[in-house]
Amino acid sequence: MPRTLSRSFIRLKMSQSSSDQSYADNIAAELQRIDSLPKLVNAINNVFRDFPSVCLKEGQRKRDCEDPNWPQRKEALFGVLDKTRLNALELCKYGLFDKRIPYTRNLLVKQCEDYELLMLCWNCGMESKVHSHPCDGCFVKVLKGEIKETKYAPQPDKDGNLVLTTEAIAREGDVAYMDDYVGLHKIGNPSPSVGAVTLHLYTPPYQTCKVS
Ligand SMILES: [Fe+2]
Repeated sequence: MPRTLSRSFIRLKMSQSSSDQSYADNIAAELQRIDSLPKLVNAINNVFRDFPSVCLKEGQRKRDCEDPNWPQRKEALFGVLDKTRLNALELCKYGLFDKRIPYTRNLLVKQCEDYELLMLCWNCGMESKVHSHPCDGCFVKVLKGEIKETKYAPQPDKDGNLVLTTEAIAREGDVAYMDDYVGLHKIGNPSPSVGAVTLHLYTPPYQTCKVS
């Protein structure tokens, strides 16, 4: 005669099975994690290899928004940054703070045609000026702490004043994106006690920008 399984036994098996699944999911996520700069550079290079920028005849690069590969490239770059969790060693190696200035900009990689990667270290309560992005896209990944982003409309009002559009907090692990079509922005570390570290991917690299 078959034994009847008690409800508590079934519940136990179900919870074991769901914890097994989440354990497997965690392992899979861990294996996919991008935890070092070489892995990150390799992953970004793969994106530009798979979805390259299309150049104009005269050698001028098209703006990303005009580039047929841009939507896929943008999504793939988001995916890479989403999986990025640089380990403590990498953060110590490149995350250089300087108490004398609001924040430091530490160049990690400059791939002259396609992108530039920087690590910024923000002292407590410090922020950037409002600025534009002559590059087509600026991705920001929060590696440590929190970042406050304040966005403004692309054009000022009739009196020439900046028009505030949004204010948001990005937390560790979050990825944000900005370009001149969205508007201008400033970012900073709102914490009075904890430094913040962010990773910035500019595509393509840029030399100058407008500061308000
Ligand atoms: Fe920016």
